[in-house]
Amino acid sequence: MQIAIDGPASAGKSTIAKLIAKRLNFVYCDTGAMYRTVTLLAKDNQIDYGDMSSIVQLMDEHSIKFINKDEGQDVLLDDQNVSDEIRSEEITNNVSQVSAIKEVREKLVDMQRQLASDTDIVMDGRDIGTTVLPNADVKIFLIASVEVRAQRRYKENIERGINTSLKTLEDEIAARDYKDSHREISPLRKADDAIEVDTSNMTIEEVVAKVLEIVQANK
Ligand code: DC
Repeated sequence: MQIAIDGPASAGKSTIAKLIAKRLNFVYCDTGAMYRTVTLLAKDNQIDYGDMSSIVQLMDEHSIKFINKDEGQDVLLDDQNVSDEIRSEEITNNVSQVSAIKEVREKLVDMQRQLASDTDIVMDGRDIGTTVLPNADVKIFLIASVEVRAQRRYKENIERGINTSLKTLEDEIAARDYKDSHREISPLRKADDAIEVDTSNMTIEEVVAKVLEIVQANK
């Protein structure tokens, strides 16, 4: 069974996808982490985030692996765990540029389809229901207002010792939404057959219950 969870930045996709995967005992795949890892690769090698050919060459020279854990997944870049590093502000604010590169997307979409080919999976991202797994059994499109999403990022940042103003976070989220939904190749878009869930006024448990209800109805 394939469950696709798409939506804009900080709508709660990975929190929900992780919990759903755990409840159903499915593999979890966070595709945003893949784009973030390629962005980290560019940063570590002092490559411009728009330098397509150098980034593609780096992808051929390095290995990106995913290890499923009880709680989510770890990302390994050349066997080094970069799960925390890929969440830095620098990576967050530049990943949209790297993820707009066609060749980067082609390589990562191949990896994502491969991962989903022989296991029950919950995959979260921006284009899972529209492009990566167009025949997914269940497609969810999670949304929340920019204000609520900025609040969530604010809390997460405080827990990690980062203090960024709410206004800055709102601006960053709105900028990422714009870039992700206006890029040429597989932009962020709700698939025609996806079910939209607005999480603005819902608790995590309520969203999980709602998604499980949708999964049950589509079994
Ligand atoms: O979900 P996230 O914030 O970790 O995703 C990081 C970026 O990666 C996001 O701004 C757009 C890009 N992305 C994408 O283009 N396609 C996906 N399937 C997942 C993420």
